Amino acid sequence: MTINPRSLFRSEITEFKIKTTRGIVRYINLDNAATTYPLKYVEETVSKYMESYGSVHRGSGYKSKKSTDVYEKSRDIIKSFVNAPEDDYVIFTNNTTGGMNTAAYFFAQLSGKVMVSAIEHSSSWLPWIKSEGIKFLGKKQYQLDEINETNEKIQKLGLSQVLRYHINKKFEFDLKDIEKQLQDNQIKVLVLTASSNLTGYCPDIKKIGKLAHKYGAYFLVDACQFIQHHPIDMQKMEIDFLVASGHKFYAPYGGGFLIGPKKFFDCFLPYQIGGGNLPYIEESGHFIRYQNQMAHDPGTPNAVGAISMAAALKKLSNIGIGNIEQYEKSLVDYVYDELKKMPHVQLYVKREHLSSIITFNIEGLTAQQTADILNKEYGIGTRAGNFCVYQVVRTLLGIEDETKLIALVNSGQANKLPGVVRASFSLQNTMQDAKHFVKAIKEMASRRK
Ligand SMILES: Cc1ncc(COP(=O)(O)O)c(C=O)c1O
Repeated sequence: MTINPRSLFRSEITEFKIKTTRGIVRYINLDNAATTYPLKYVEETVSKYMESYGSVHRGSGYKSKKSTDVYEKSRDIIKSFVNAPEDDYVIFTNNTTGGMNTAAYFFAQLSGKVMVSAIEHSSSWLPWIKSEGIKFLGKKQYQLDEINETNEKIQKLGLSQVLRYHINKKFEFDLKDIEKQLQDNQIKVLVLTASSNLTGYCPDIKKIGKLAHKYGAYFLVDACQFIQHHPIDMQKMEIDFLVASGHKFYAPYGGGFLIGPKKFFDCFLPYQIGGGNLPYIEESGHFIRYQNQMAHDPGTPNAVGAISMAAALKKLSNIGIGNIEQYEKSLVDYVYDELKKMPHVQLYVKREHLSSIITFNIEGLTAQQTADILNKEYGIGTRAGNFCVYQVVRTLLGIEDETKLIALVNSGQANKLPGVVRASFSLQNTMQDAKHFVKAIKEMASRRK
């Protein structure tokens, strides 16, 4: 099946023009790992939903019932896309960050430590440190002027509870290292990014899931850089919990989700409580809880976020995730091979790890300068910086002593931190985009003597 991006997105989006120093050009978006355009089908579905939009889980009128029905069905579509077990819950969040914070809240009530990978995005790492740290802070109550000190304590305590498993010289996980940590510690949950947001490296999810289960740990996967590019199957891959963001898979309407087992979530009070997620409050103030996913759906939900995600996954399923994978690979392989030949271009991605991301620098230019030139001269949108994975960037750039970096940040010059440039591709890119990008980099690199 050939993929024609032009038929999948509104032309006003894909043909968007901007003014550059070389004239008016079509904007080329190579920042898809940050966020994605809405698919035309998603926009149409949202627009149609708006015609019968009404209060979800509340009213008795037609529009309310219809809106609730479509909203609830979106959970099934999402579950089916990732092949979640039948009685799993889909808990809606606003993004992956929200999903991780929700999961960290629940797990903080259990005994045991957390293991996260050394390439985890800060959204999949810091929520665990914070919630575990607060737990270990104890019962003492503090005055406002003591809170700052408490914050430091929370970080310290949290760090002692959240272990990291590392990557080897090939930038891959060492299963023996993971197993050793699982053996030596009582781990309650092992967290894994399904695809690095900086190198595209996709670890063997199933093998790591198996290891987690062998030692009695739950397995939680951050799929936000994966679900839109590669086939995912929660059951086959032994994933207990899955987190993702709609805006990364062509549904940028503020939705995200955390999927996991009913029997786990039913044990806990909701992360957020208020209206709509409980059936009754007694005179005493004691409330009766739901034993279903409504318990974790506080307030008026972001129905548009939910239905847009379902629509996007329905469309991706229709196109075939295998076809998408192949299509994107053809673009990324081409760009990688061309950039590899160029002097003055440093690539930070290994060919065997290529998926949808190419990370690089051009000698003599800071990452930010490269991204700025690409934007101003060529109308190409990329991103430069540390991408919320400071530890990975330090490794890629071979920075062992971070003293100078900390000094830069403390003196208000965080914008001067060394970084890398990321070009990230998606379904909306064409070979023409890829060629334009290669030409731009070639010109820029040839100016470096
Ligand atoms: C691997 C990974 N995890 C988590 C996040 C956080 O996602 P969000 O900003 O949607 O919460 C990102 C965002 O770039 C990411 O790349």
